[in-house]
Amino acid sequence: MSTPGQLIDGKAVSAQVLAEVTADVAALKAQGVEPALAVVLVGDDPASHVYVRNKVLRAGEVGIRSLEYRLPAEASAAEVLALVAELNADAGVHGILVQLPLPKHIDETSVLQAIDPAKDVDGFHSENVGGLSQGRPVLTPCTPAGCMRLLRDTLGDLSGKHAVVIGRSNIVGKPMAALLLAADCTVTVLHSRSKNPQALCRKADIVVAAVGRPRMINAEWIKPGAVVIDVGINRIEEDGKNRLVGDVDFASVQPLTAAITPVPGGVGPMTIALLMQNTVTAACQQHINSAPAASEEATCRSAC
Ligand code: GUN
Repeated sequence: MSTPGQLIDGKAVSAQVLAEVTADVAALKAQGVEPALAVVLVGDDPASHVYVRNKVLRAGEVGIRSLEYRLPAEASAAEVLALVAELNADAGVHGILVQLPLPKHIDETSVLQAIDPAKDVDGFHSENVGGLSQGRPVLTPCTPAGCMRLLRDTLGDLSGKHAVVIGRSNIVGKPMAALLLAADCTVTVLHSRSKNPQALCRKADIVVAAVGRPRMINAEWIKPGAVVIDVGINRIEEDGKNRLVGDVDFASVQPLTAAITPVPGGVGPMTIALLMQNTVTAACQQHINSAPAASEEATCRSAC
């Protein structure tokens, strides 16, 4: 570790991940497999449209074929489930992502549970969630997996570190805690009912903030020398301007830390990069599983 307050450059690390993925895609294509990701968007949520567009663009850049399915906000649960079933059955589709949130009349859990766990590149199916908590090699949620890559690149071995995760969502907080535990950290999860969260957080060597509240975590929460990962992406109006800020009050916290992710340019770019990595891992696994048992050639570099 070098100077205090070192910036953890998510753009640079995500570029590395994407370069690795590009090489893995080429290796798969050389074996006749073109990794393909299906993205399903239901309704008109503007932020979801932007996320989906970015995922599709990134897939193209690394050589992954993307298929985009847009359904109207009034689409029924049965229509969404029928599409998922069709994609599950299509051997040319290796990854399926249903963009969240879904319109209120559709039960998210039943849609996520309908996705074949082998194609569940979000890692949200209970089979993958359970596998993660048991330490099995499964498809892992992209944002927490991206945070782990940043932490490993910054700190190396995480064993024995005290990690505090702030937030307990299914998408970030819970899988983040499971990944840190699997890396032999001592893990504390703080949430809205935690008593004296500041004092608990001040004990942490690693802080992962995923609460969705602008600049909530200030210097009072941070032990000097901690490494801070800010998952928050909050849009606020300030001084007449539209700003993007994290869950961490960067200006007051950075000088205390050993290293910290900025917003933007920290965790954000990692999420899509890990989605591409999961898609290649899924394609590789499906390729190996479909190859004749005697075929020793069905291996895919580092992808799986
Ligand atoms: N909406 C916000 N984040 C995510 C994500 O990681 N995956 C999906 N499918 N939808 C999201």
